[in-house]
Amino acid sequence: NTVYVLNGPNLNLLGTREPDIYGSETLDDIAGMLEDRGRELGLEIDLRQSNHEGHLVDWLHEAQAEGAKAVLLNAAAFTHTSIALLDAIRAISTPVIEVHLSDPTTREEFRHISYVAMAAKETVQGLGAKGYLVALDAAARL
Ligand code: DQA
Repeated sequence: NTVYVLNGPNLNLLGTREPDIYGSETLDDIAGMLEDRGRELGLEIDLRQSNHEGHLVDWLHEAQAEGAKAVLLNAAAFTHTSIALLDAIRAISTPVIEVHLSDPTTREEFRHISYVAMAAKETVQGLGAKGYLVALDAAARL
């Protein structure tokens, strides 16, 4: 009963990266929060981060192949550019929940389009690190 939590470019720098926008929690902090909540929900957390688009595509395929229960996906900037990620989400039957720390729809115009949202089951955004927990709860209900 595993939930993949896939994180895209620059999210390895969470905690120090534009903390006014993304908050002070690191990706390790988020992993810890998710593991605690996952234990309560009976879900195992497999959290990964890559700065490379193709890794995220491969991991989406792997989620399906390994029978993951769901994927939480913060594709970061690839959200707004990647038809390959859109196609990968459409190619698998594993449900994908889109997560963003900030609310991209209130930021620059170029962040208003989300290719991930075109195929994701749900989107959780603008809640900071807590949004990952909200998304995990949503995954547990699927
Ligand atoms: C982000 C929002 C994206 O627009 C941005 O490129 C990111 C992070 C977020 O979590 O708020 O890198 O996905």
